[in-house]
Amino acid sequence: MIIISPSFLSADFGRLYEEAESMEQSGADWFHLDVMDGKFVPNISFGIPVIKALRKHSDKKFDVHLMIDEPIRYIDEFRAAGADIITVHTEACSDVGKTIDKIKGCGCIPSLSVKPGTPVEDTFGYLDDVGMVLIMTVEPGFGGQSFMRDMMPKVKKLREEINRRGLSVDIQVDGGISADTVAEAAEAGANVFVAGSAVFGAEDRKKCILDLRRKAENAFPG
Ligand code: DX5
Ligand code: ZN
Repeated sequence: MIIISPSFLSADFGRLYEEAESMEQSGADWFHLDVMDGKFVPNISFGIPVIKALRKHSDKKFDVHLMIDEPIRYIDEFRAAGADIITVHTEACSDVGKTIDKIKGCGCIPSLSVKPGTPVEDTFGYLDDVGMVLIMTVEPGFGGQSFMRDMMPKVKKLREEINRRGLSVDIQVDGGISADTVAEAAEAGANVFVAGSAVFGAEDRKKCILDLRRKAENAFPG
């Protein structure tokens, strides 16, 4: 299934409630919420209280992308704030397996991400235990960067591995996704698309999401 998950990093933080309403009305499937700690990535965004506040205004799936060191320390708090899916980075966890177990144990769907420089094979040992793998298509930390098309072989390899093992793991791409790049990522095998600047910056957000969805659907193999 094709999923469009707009990244609230590009939302107007002074009007978050209206931005959530706007995403509901524009046909977003999930809300992608980027949490940054200024350590794992060179930027700080928002955290637990903001997610908790947003939760009151939407029933959409909260797709929480943790760009923080040792996220295992805060899984319970993110769950309590309203997270549905929690993505952690292999590079940020001293014990990836334990972190995934913790996410599962609190009732969230675990998802594992790799930065552009990390081989996709690092996720293969966990595919039986996660609902999603996020292949970063920019260096994490900032919105509005250019899509790294040289990540597509990683997406392809991962889709092949998931299919070969008969698993139903979603593949998410995040960074530089727009009407110009979404088809390429879908063709490689991605089915969950994060888009920040493209969606929040669009004059017609509904049309933008529809367009991303159509392009992804047409390009996704099978
Ligand atoms: C980057 C974040 C992304 C970011 C994407 O570290 O993980 O979710 O908001 O923004 P765009 O779509 O503008 O590249
Ligand atoms: Zn993200």
